[in-house]
Amino acid sequence: MNLMGKSILITGANRGIGKSLVLESIEKGASKIYGTSRKEGSLDLNNNKVEEIIMEVRDIESVKKAMNKISSLDILINNAGVLHNVPILSEEEQLKYAKEEIEVNYLGPLNVCNIFWPLLAKNKSSDNKGVIVNVMSTLAKVTYPFCGTYCASKHATLALTRGLRAQLKDLNIDVLEAYPGLTDTDMTKGLDHLPKVTPLKVAKKIITAIENNQQEVYVGDDSIEMADHILKDPKGAQDEANQYMPDSLKI
Ligand SMILES: NC(=O)c1ccc[n+]([C@@H]2O[C@H](COP(=O)([O-])OP(=O)(O)OC[C@H]3O[C@@H](n4cnc5c(N)ncnc54)[C@H](OP(=O)(O)O)[C@@H]3O)[C@@H](O)[C@H]2O)c1
Repeated sequence: MNLMGKSILITGANRGIGKSLVLESIEKGASKIYGTSRKEGSLDLNNNKVEEIIMEVRDIESVKKAMNKISSLDILINNAGVLHNVPILSEEEQLKYAKEEIEVNYLGPLNVCNIFWPLLAKNKSSDNKGVIVNVMSTLAKVTYPFCGTYCASKHATLALTRGLRAQLKDLNIDVLEAYPGLTDTDMTKGLDHLPKVTPLKVAKKIITAIENNQQEVYVGDDSIEMADHILKDPKGAQDEANQYMPDSLKI
Protein backbone atom coordinates (compact mmCIF):
# COMPACT_ATOMS: atom_id res chain seq x y z
CA MET A 1 0.00 0.00 0.00
CA ASN A 2 1.20 3.46 -0.89
CA LEU A 3 0.47 6.01 1.86
CA MET A 4 0.27 8.88 -0.60
CA GLY A 5 -3.17 10.49 -0.29
CA LYS A 6 -4.33 8.16 2.49
CA SER A 7 -6.23 9.09 5.61
CA ILE A 8 -4.82 7.73 8.90
CA LEU A 9 -6.00 7.66 12.51
CA ILE A 10 -3.34 7.15 15.21
CA THR A 11 -4.33 6.77 18.88
CA GLY A 12 -2.02 8.15 21.57
CA ALA A 13 -0.38 10.51 19.08
CA ASN A 14 0.74 13.27 21.44
CA ARG A 15 4.00 11.58 22.49
CA GLY A 16 6.24 8.53 22.10
CA ILE A 17 5.76 6.08 19.23
CA GLY A 18 2.40 7.64 18.28
CA LYS A 19 3.94 11.07 17.69
CA SER A 20 6.66 9.52 15.51
CA LEU A 21 3.98 7.63 13.54
CA VAL A 22 2.35 10.99 12.77
CA LEU A 23 5.68 12.46 11.59
CA GLU A 24 6.44 9.44 9.41
CA SER A 25 2.93 9.50 7.91
CA ILE A 26 3.47 13.15 6.90
CA GLU A 27 6.83 12.17 5.39
CA LYS A 28 5.14 9.45 3.30
CA GLY A 29 2.55 11.83 1.84
CA ALA A 30 -0.60 10.87 3.76
CA SER A 31 -3.27 13.47 2.98
CA LYS A 32 -4.89 13.52 6.40
CA ILE A 33 -3.57 12.33 9.77
CA TYR A 34 -5.94 12.27 12.71
CA GLY A 35 -3.88 12.05 15.88
CA THR A 36 -5.69 11.38 19.13
CA SER A 37 -4.86 12.95 22.46
CA ARG A 38 -6.75 13.21 25.73
CA LYS A 39 -6.04 16.86 26.42
CA GLU A 40 -6.80 19.52 23.84
CA GLY A 41 -3.68 21.21 22.49
CA SER A 42 -1.26 18.45 23.45
CA LEU A 43 -0.69 17.40 19.83
CA ASP A 44 1.83 20.19 19.22
CA LEU A 45 2.38 19.44 15.52
CA ASN A 46 1.90 22.45 13.33
CA ASN A 47 1.00 20.87 10.00
CA ASN A 48 -2.20 21.40 8.01
CA LYS A 49 -2.49 17.69 7.27
CA VAL A 50 -2.61 16.83 10.98
CA GLU A 51 -5.80 17.17 13.01
CA GLU A 52 -6.02 16.59 16.73
CA ILE A 53 -8.94 14.42 17.80
CA ILE A 54 -9.79 14.05 21.47
CA MET A 55 -10.24 10.41 22.46
CA GLU A 56 -10.20 8.46 25.72
CA VAL A 57 -9.99 4.90 24.42
CA ARG A 58 -11.59 3.47 27.60
CA ASP A 59 -14.76 5.48 27.00
CA ILE A 60 -16.85 4.24 24.06
CA GLU A 61 -18.82 7.51 23.95
CA SER A 62 -15.57 9.42 23.51
CA VAL A 63 -14.56 7.01 20.70
CA LYS A 64 -17.96 7.54 18.98
CA LYS A 65 -17.59 11.32 19.28
CA ALA A 66 -14.17 11.07 17.64
CA MET A 67 -15.57 8.91 14.83
CA ASN A 68 -18.21 11.54 14.05
CA LYS A 69 -15.43 14.03 13.24
CA ILE A 70 -13.88 11.82 10.55
CA SER A 71 -15.39 11.42 7.08
CA SER A 72 -13.14 8.75 5.57
CA LEU A 73 -10.40 6.43 6.78
CA ASP A 74 -7.82 4.11 5.20
CA ILE A 75 -5.51 3.17 8.09
CA LEU A 76 -6.23 2.84 11.82
CA ILE A 77 -3.28 2.50 14.20
CA ASN A 78 -4.14 1.37 17.75
CA ASN A 79 -1.07 2.67 19.52
CA ALA A 80 -2.27 4.15 22.87
CA GLY A 81 -1.07 2.05 25.78
CA VAL A 82 0.04 1.98 29.42
CA LEU A 83 2.58 -0.05 31.40
CA HIS A 84 2.71 -0.15 35.20
CA ASN A 85 5.27 -2.87 36.01
CA VAL A 86 2.87 -4.83 38.22
CA PRO A 87 3.52 -8.54 38.86
CA ILE A 88 0.61 -11.01 38.83
CA LEU A 89 0.84 -11.43 42.64
CA SER A 90 0.93 -7.92 44.08
CA GLU A 91 -0.33 -5.78 46.90
CA GLU A 92 -4.09 -5.31 46.56
CA GLU A 93 -3.72 -1.57 45.90
CA GLN A 94 -1.60 -2.36 42.81
CA LEU A 95 -4.49 -4.17 41.17
CA LYS A 96 -6.03 -0.90 40.01
CA TYR A 97 -3.07 -0.62 37.64
CA ALA A 98 -3.74 -4.08 36.23
CA LYS A 99 -7.30 -2.91 35.57
CA GLU A 100 -6.05 0.18 33.75
CA GLU A 101 -3.72 -1.91 31.58
CA ILE A 102 -6.59 -4.18 30.52
CA GLU A 103 -8.87 -1.18 29.93
CA VAL A 104 -6.38 0.76 27.82
CA ASN A 105 -4.34 -1.96 26.10
CA TYR A 106 -7.16 -4.42 25.38
CA LEU A 107 -10.59 -2.79 25.84
CA GLY A 108 -9.25 0.40 24.17
CA PRO A 109 -8.52 -1.24 20.78
CA LEU A 110 -11.70 -3.32 21.20
CA ASN A 111 -13.76 -0.09 21.52
CA VAL A 112 -11.91 1.67 18.71
CA CYS A 113 -12.15 -1.26 16.27
CA ASN A 114 -15.84 -1.79 16.98
CA ILE A 115 -16.68 1.86 16.36
CA PHE A 116 -14.38 2.47 13.39
CA TRP A 117 -14.54 -0.70 11.28
CA PRO A 118 -17.60 0.37 9.24
CA LEU A 119 -15.89 3.65 8.28
CA LEU A 120 -12.67 1.82 7.47
CA ALA A 121 -14.51 -0.74 5.33
CA LYS A 122 -16.31 1.95 3.29
CA ASN A 123 -15.25 2.10 -0.39
CA LYS A 124 -12.59 -0.61 0.04
CA SER A 125 -11.81 -3.27 -2.55
CA SER A 126 -9.04 -5.78 -3.21
CA ASP A 127 -7.18 -2.95 -5.03
CA ASN A 128 -7.83 -0.37 -2.33
CA LYS A 129 -7.60 -2.03 1.05
CA GLY A 130 -7.92 -0.67 4.55
CA VAL A 131 -5.40 -1.52 7.31
CA ILE A 132 -5.60 -1.84 11.09
CA VAL A 133 -2.31 -1.84 12.98
CA ASN A 134 -2.26 -3.04 16.59
CA VAL A 135 0.87 -1.97 18.43
CA MET A 136 1.76 -4.81 20.78
CA SER A 137 5.07 -6.22 22.06
CA THR A 138 6.64 -9.67 22.24
CA LEU A 139 5.22 -9.45 25.79
CA ALA A 140 1.98 -10.45 24.03
CA LYS A 141 3.62 -13.87 23.57
CA VAL A 142 5.76 -14.40 26.70
CA THR A 143 5.27 -13.16 30.28
CA TYR A 144 7.97 -11.22 32.09
CA PRO A 145 7.09 -11.75 35.78
CA PHE A 146 8.00 -8.18 36.86
CA CYS A 147 5.23 -6.79 34.62
CA GLY A 148 2.93 -9.81 34.44
CA THR A 149 -0.30 -7.79 34.33
CA TYR A 150 0.90 -5.73 31.33
CA CYS A 151 1.85 -8.98 29.57
CA ALA A 152 -1.64 -10.35 30.25
CA SER A 153 -3.19 -7.24 28.70
CA LYS A 154 -1.00 -7.53 25.59
CA HIS A 155 -1.75 -11.29 25.30
CA ALA A 156 -5.42 -10.27 25.25
CA THR A 157 -4.66 -7.75 22.49
CA LEU A 158 -3.02 -10.48 20.41
CA ALA A 159 -6.15 -12.65 20.74
CA LEU A 160 -8.22 -9.62 19.72
CA THR A 161 -5.94 -9.02 16.73
CA ARG A 162 -6.31 -12.57 15.44
CA GLY A 163 -10.11 -12.47 15.79
CA LEU A 164 -10.17 -9.09 14.06
CA ARG A 165 -8.17 -10.38 11.10
CA ALA A 166 -10.49 -13.34 10.64
CA GLN A 167 -13.66 -11.21 10.81
CA LEU A 168 -12.37 -8.45 8.52
CA LYS A 169 -10.79 -10.62 5.84
CA ASP A 170 -13.77 -10.48 3.49
CA LEU A 171 -14.13 -6.72 3.94
CA ASN A 172 -10.73 -5.93 2.38
CA ILE A 173 -9.17 -4.81 5.65
CA ASP A 174 -5.74 -6.18 6.50
CA VAL A 175 -4.46 -6.41 10.08
CA LEU A 176 -0.81 -5.79 11.01
CA GLU A 177 0.71 -6.93 14.30
CA ALA A 178 3.48 -4.50 15.37
CA TYR A 179 6.04 -5.66 17.95
CA PRO A 180 8.39 -2.86 19.02
CA GLY A 181 11.26 -3.82 21.30
CA LEU A 182 12.35 -1.60 24.16
CA THR A 183 11.79 1.94 22.83
CA ASP A 184 13.04 5.23 24.20
CA THR A 185 9.77 6.85 25.32
CA ASP A 186 8.17 7.95 28.61
CA MET A 187 6.98 4.35 29.04
CA THR A 188 10.53 3.07 29.56
CA LYS A 189 11.89 5.88 31.75
CA GLY A 190 14.14 4.37 34.41
CA LEU A 191 15.31 1.53 32.14
CA ASP A 192 18.18 3.60 30.84
CA HIS A 193 20.77 0.85 31.40
CA LEU A 194 19.16 -1.22 28.63
CA PRO A 195 19.55 -0.70 24.86
CA LYS A 196 16.54 1.00 23.29
CA VAL A 197 15.47 1.89 19.79
CA THR A 198 14.18 5.35 18.96
CA PRO A 199 10.43 5.89 18.50
CA LEU A 200 11.15 7.19 14.99
CA LYS A 201 12.83 3.91 14.04
CA VAL A 202 9.78 2.02 15.32
CA ALA A 203 7.46 4.31 13.35
CA LYS A 204 9.50 3.95 10.13
CA LYS A 205 9.43 0.14 10.37
CA ILE A 206 5.69 0.07 11.05
CA ILE A 207 4.96 2.36 8.10
CA THR A 208 7.24 0.29 5.83
CA ALA A 209 5.41 -2.87 6.98
CA ILE A 210 2.10 -1.23 5.96
CA GLU A 211 3.61 -0.35 2.56
CA ASN A 212 4.77 -3.96 2.12
CA ASN A 213 1.41 -5.46 3.18
CA GLN A 214 3.05 -7.42 6.01
CA GLN A 215 1.08 -9.22 8.74
CA GLU A 216 3.77 -8.81 11.42
CA VAL A 217 6.66 -6.42 12.09
CA TYR A 218 9.34 -6.71 14.79
CA VAL A 219 11.57 -3.72 15.62
CA GLY A 220 14.79 -3.78 17.65
CA ASP A 221 17.22 -6.64 18.32
CA ASP A 222 15.46 -7.66 21.56
CA SER A 223 12.12 -8.01 19.79
CA ILE A 224 13.56 -9.82 16.76
CA GLU A 225 15.58 -12.24 18.93
CA MET A 226 12.67 -12.96 21.28
CA ALA A 227 10.32 -13.56 18.33
CA ASP A 228 12.82 -16.05 16.90
CA HIS A 229 13.21 -17.74 20.29
CA ILE A 230 9.41 -18.03 20.73
CA LEU A 231 9.13 -19.60 17.29
CA LYS A 232 11.90 -22.16 17.80
CA ASP A 233 11.52 -22.93 21.49
CA PRO A 234 8.46 -21.41 23.21
CA LYS A 235 9.25 -23.00 26.59
CA GLY A 236 12.85 -21.80 26.46
CA ALA A 237 11.63 -18.29 25.57
CA GLN A 238 9.36 -18.25 28.62
CA ASP A 239 12.23 -19.57 30.80
CA GLU A 240 14.37 -16.67 29.54
CA ALA A 241 11.61 -14.18 30.42
CA ASN A 242 11.33 -15.76 33.89
CA GLN A 243 14.76 -14.32 34.73
CA TYR A 244 13.10 -10.90 35.03
CA MET A 245 11.52 -11.34 38.45
CA PRO A 246 9.99 -8.75 40.80
CA ASP A 247 10.98 -8.65 44.50
CA SER A 248 10.46 -11.98 46.29
CA LEU A 249 7.04 -12.64 47.79
CA LYS A 250 6.77 -12.53 51.60
CA ILE A 251 4.13 -14.51 53.53
N1 LIG B 1 8.14 1.96 24.78
C1 LIG B 1 8.36 0.66 24.62
O1 LIG B 1 9.43 0.13 24.95
C2 LIG B 1 7.30 -0.20 23.97
C3 LIG B 1 7.66 -1.50 23.59
C4 LIG B 1 6.70 -2.34 23.01
C5 LIG B 1 5.43 -1.86 22.81
N2 LIG B 1 5.10 -0.62 23.19
C6 LIG B 1 3.70 -0.16 22.95
O2 LIG B 1 3.73 0.95 22.09
C7 LIG B 1 2.60 1.80 22.32
C8 LIG B 1 3.06 3.23 22.53
O3 LIG B 1 3.93 3.25 23.66
P1 LIG B 1 4.91 4.47 23.97
O4 LIG B 1 6.18 3.86 24.40
O5 LIG B 1 4.89 5.46 22.88
O6 LIG B 1 4.19 5.05 25.28
P2 LIG B 1 4.08 6.53 25.86
O7 LIG B 1 5.19 7.39 25.40
O8 LIG B 1 3.85 6.33 27.32
O9 LIG B 1 2.71 7.08 25.18
C9 LIG B 1 1.51 6.45 25.44
C10 LIG B 1 0.41 7.14 24.64
O10 LIG B 1 -0.83 6.47 24.91
C11 LIG B 1 -1.79 7.44 25.33
N3 LIG B 1 -2.78 6.88 26.23
C12 LIG B 1 -2.55 6.26 27.43
N4 LIG B 1 -3.71 5.94 28.01
C13 LIG B 1 -4.70 6.36 27.17
C14 LIG B 1 -6.11 6.33 27.22
N5 LIG B 1 -6.77 5.80 28.27
N6 LIG B 1 -6.83 6.84 26.17
C15 LIG B 1 -6.17 7.39 25.12
N7 LIG B 1 -4.83 7.48 25.02
C16 LIG B 1 -4.10 6.96 26.04
C17 LIG B 1 -0.95 8.50 26.03
O11 LIG B 1 -1.70 9.69 26.15
P3 LIG B 1 -1.48 10.68 27.44
O12 LIG B 1 -0.30 11.54 27.11
O13 LIG B 1 -2.76 11.42 27.53
O14 LIG B 1 -1.23 9.79 28.64
C18 LIG B 1 0.22 8.61 25.06
O15 LIG B 1 -0.13 9.38 23.94
C19 LIG B 1 1.89 1.19 23.54
O16 LIG B 1 0.81 0.40 23.11
C20 LIG B 1 2.97 0.32 24.18
O17 LIG B 1 2.41 -0.74 24.94
C21 LIG B 1 5.99 0.24 23.75
